[in-house]
Amino acid sequence: MTSLPLDRLGAGELAAIAELCRRGVSDPPAADELEGALFAPDQPATVRGDPDVGVVATVEGEGGGYVRLLVVDPSVRGRGHGHALIEAAEADLAGTKSVTVGADAPYFLFPGVETTQTAMLSLLERHHYNRAEANFNMAVDLDALHPDPGGTDLAEAGDRAEMAGWLETYWPNWAAEALRALDKGTLVVSHDDEGITGFCAYDVNRRGLLGPVAVRHDLVGKGAGEPLVLGALHRMRAAGRHRAEVVWVGPIVPYARVGGTVSRVFFVYRKKLGDDR
Ligand SMILES: CC(C)(COP(=O)(O)OP(=O)(O)OC[C@H]1O[C@@H](n2cnc3c(N)ncnc32)[C@H](O)[C@@H]1OP(=O)(O)O)[C@@H](O)C(=O)NCCC(=O)NCCS
Repeated sequence: MTSLPLDRLGAGELAAIAELCRRGVSDPPAADELEGALFAPDQPATVRGDPDVGVVATVEGEGGGYVRLLVVDPSVRGRGHGHALIEAAEADLAGTKSVTVGADAPYFLFPGVETTQTAMLSLLERHHYNRAEANFNMAVDLDALHPDPGGTDLAEAGDRAEMAGWLETYWPNWAAEALRALDKGTLVVSHDDEGITGFCAYDVNRRGLLGPVAVRHDLVGKGAGEPLVLGALHRMRAAGRHRAEVVWVGPIVPYARVGGTVSRVFFVYRKKLGDDR
């Protein structure tokens, strides 16, 4: 067994962490996506390890502690580094009531552990994590996209205050992601005589991912979401994409209606701290 340095890593290591992800993660985040997720000023992660070997990133959120990223280089797997990194994560989160792996809004990289990642599922089971819930993505083939019904716009900087107020009233849990999308120019909105009817964000934490999406409470279930989703998908296609994934899906029907199919499933693992010590 080789020893793994568990020093804290800073933003200066981003390129090396991105390269580690490229080698070791099936759906690797790019350096700028890692920068947003790991070094956000309002929720900086504790990032530890050695980018040549393995890295773990944790954050403390409202629901407890979260592992945002855990990866070991494929060339040095099976030597105990995974065990060392999850133990380091738990030590960093010792002041929290629980540790959840992924599904850590608003800066999540993964909505859980992808069910194809047998080694990761096994590592977490060996450390007494429970499968708390499952999340899934739905893929949409942008080359076979339904026509854009129109009626949507991209929100701009001048719309920020109105949007922030609307989100605070109707969907405060999604305010951070929706406003980040607005700042990036990837927030699709629609209006009626009463004001904002809804929004659909895309390319927020990761490029190619669509969500969150929401409409005003009085419009839920009345088809107001579909033009927003199609408006976002058409803009993703116009930017050169052939495929998009709706991330961390709630109801299936609205996305099935626009041609979406379940593409990836993620288990959310959680452990109450103190359970096995
Ligand atoms: C999961 C992962 C971190 C394990 O790293 P590792 O250094 O090989 O882990 P270890 O040698 O410490 O082994 C730890 C445990 O993982 C499990 N494991 C490791 N390799 C495994 C494999 N090939 N098959 C099944 N289980 C495996 C075992 O339970 C092992 O413990 P045990 O041998 O005592 O039962 C590594 O495979 C990895 O980086 N996978 C990709 C992770 C990823 O997708 N991250 C992005 C989302 S956060």
